[in-house]
Amino acid sequence: MPQFCVVTFGCQMNAHDSSRMEEVLVKGGYRATQKVEDADVVVLNTCSIREKAEQKLRSEVGRLGLLKRRKPELVICVAGCVAQQEGERLLKSLPQIDLVIGPDNIPELPSLLASVETGGLPLVRTVFDVETPAFLAAEPSLGPALASAYVTVMKGCNERCSYCIVPHTRGPERYRASGEIVAEIQRFVDSGVREITLLGQTVNSYRDPSAALCVAPGVGRAQFTHTRFAVAAEDESEFAALLRAIAERVPGLMRLRYTSPHPRHLTPSLILAHQELSVLCHHVHMPVQSGSDRVLRRMIRRYTAAEFVERTAALKEAVPGLTLSTDMIVGFPGETAEDFEASLALVRDVGFVSLFGFTYSQRPFTPALKLDDDVPDAEKSARLARLFEVVDHNKEQHLRSLVGTSAHVLVDGPSKAGNLSGRTQRNEIVHLSAQDAALSGCGVGALLEVRIEQAFKNSLAAQVNRVLVPARPRLERSLVVQSSATVPAISEVSQQSPGPRRQLQVI
Ligand code: 5AD
Ligand code: SF4
Repeated sequence: MPQFCVVTFGCQMNAHDSSRMEEVLVKGGYRATQKVEDADVVVLNTCSIREKAEQKLRSEVGRLGLLKRRKPELVICVAGCVAQQEGERLLKSLPQIDLVIGPDNIPELPSLLASVETGGLPLVRTVFDVETPAFLAAEPSLGPALASAYVTVMKGCNERCSYCIVPHTRGPERYRASGEIVAEIQRFVDSGVREITLLGQTVNSYRDPSAALCVAPGVGRAQFTHTRFAVAAEDESEFAALLRAIAERVPGLMRLRYTSPHPRHLTPSLILAHQELSVLCHHVHMPVQSGSDRVLRRMIRRYTAAEFVERTAALKEAVPGLTLSTDMIVGFPGETAEDFEASLALVRDVGFVSLFGFTYSQRPFTPALKLDDDVPDAEKSARLARLFEVVDHNKEQHLRSLVGTSAHVLVDGPSKAGNLSGRTQRNEIVHLSAQDAALSGCGVGALLEVRIEQAFKNSLAAQVNRVLVPARPRLERSLVVQSSATVPAISEVSQQSPGPRRQLQVI
């Protein structure tokens, strides 16, 4: 049986796509391996959000090319955002590649591989399924037993943030029917999954294409204004209605999260859902990108800092103890020291407890390319370091404030030290002692009531008070697939120049 290895770069959406590719390949008669050297097919699932991520692909293909010299039948497939972005150009610039496949073409992977493996020309298949969008259903029985899983509710993005390549690589927004989403969550819960994270580029812009959802309470309460005088109700989504349908129809689900929302769709109906649905976790990742109105305007984010604060404050008021994390970009074209100070002030004011910070990186096909990338790299890095200082301070204070309190922890796996660890409702990482980890019923998937004993820089230590829901006996799996393989150093393979350039086939 031929073996495959999927190597994943980038976001949760990519990790999710990798799992679907693995399932498609297993059903197509391939066997998973974690070792690139043992694989007959290596799929590099790529990210192009920043230039660095794209460079990584090029070096990985170079390394695999060396392996291919020793094993000429090795098939190198490039999937994901760089594949979609570069398509045919990728085959021309990296002739070691056999197949380039876009995120919407995953179901075709086995047939495309069959063509390449039987001596066909290199192939490019990067067609968006705009006419009839398809969402590959997850197959929990083919994957490892998990405490939590991702479920896609929409793909693509209709926003046009001026720095972002995603609308180009992932196409326009397409939504999945609510019944399909609920059924997939039910299947995961039946297989032992306790926590689901709904996935989408702007997950809370969700609308049900099957028009099967009831109107959620709170819809149309035009409490918030939008930039350019629109009221929130005018583009209210059906995301709150979807959350309510999931809570009602899958009562066995313990925890529900979502990522990544857009602040524009943090509307009264969504805030009310947070207030009323106990399954919704007390943490939301809400990307803000900047605290300066001038920069937000240039980023085409379509809200002001005050609007962001107003909405997140309403959410925090509705759900006491809820924490927020965010994404921020520093050094966007034209960002002055004053603009950056506004970002720092926003991080302090909103009290984000964690933050993904990025230095601005020019991307092809984005409107911001027309702006002068005028903040020097050293200044970008210095700003990022200051941003992390502020958020680290917030985080430290927050974690310290939890010592002595109790929390519910969902055990999700072994910690680095080899004992068990899990996450609270607010998503803080909690480590358990070896003694507690040995308690009856205290394995992956268990829900525990704990007392927080100690705060570290990024996590907590706790003592178990009681096991609320015991771990499910781990189901025997015929196959355990993991999607986080990395390409090992292939230093023993000698360097040679690439072979003759091949013709290519675009379908
Ligand atoms: N440069 C830097 N960061 C970016 N992001 C998206 N595009 C860029 C870019 N061109 C960041 C945003 C987004 C996260 C996923 O990546 O903060 O929320
Ligand atoms: Fe990119 Fe903006 Fe869409 Fe997020 S909302 S994926 S940052 S364009």
